[in-house]
Amino acid sequence: MSSTLSVLIPRGDIEYAVARLGRQIGIDYSGCDLVAVGILKGSFIFMADLVRQIGLPLEIDFVTVSSYGSGTKSPGNISVLHDLRVDVRDKDVLVIEDIVDSGHTISYVMKHIAEKGARSVRLCTLADKPSRRETPVHIDYLGFTVPNKFVVGYGLDFDNKFRYLPDICALENHD
Ligand code: IMP
Ligand code: MG
Repeated sequence: MSSTLSVLIPRGDIEYAVARLGRQIGIDYSGCDLVAVGILKGSFIFMADLVRQIGLPLEIDFVTVSSYGSGTKSPGNISVLHDLRVDVRDKDVLVIEDIVDSGHTISYVMKHIAEKGARSVRLCTLADKPSRRETPVHIDYLGFTVPNKFVVGYGLDFDNKFRYLPDICALENHD
């Protein structure tokens, strides 16, 4: 396999966007019982940076959902592998995702958390690839809209690799 990486969103732009998002979230959730819920593994770097910009005494938790791979694009196959540990009943949940693509994963997670009795459930995603949407998703806080390319870095992976890259890069010729 030969692949080329080209920087799509440099680290400075990411840093600026994370500061902007954190500031806005801090204002919007002032006085709320905020629980930030990251979707593993892709959100881990974004979330680590974002929560340090919010400036509120929030709780942190994670969920892991099964990914349904490139071959089997059936949303019915999504399941929770590791569930929330925090009781979110009557709390305000902000779900933190790496990228919204078809929208199936995030729709499933938002519904799953809402069913636990959260007072509110909103979405903050680092990236959005709207050209690939198959189910409508409302994004409350967005870092970047990306073109229809496969992106890696800043937590985003291909085959569990490239998450460590400090920039968001387009990965070409990956198969
Ligand atoms: P969806 O259910 O199709 O919206 O898929 C969302 C999940 O697929 C994300 O949480 C990512 O883990 C993964 N994904 C989608 N597009 C990309 C990409 O361009 N790079 C890396 N991961 C991606
Ligand atoms: Mg992923």
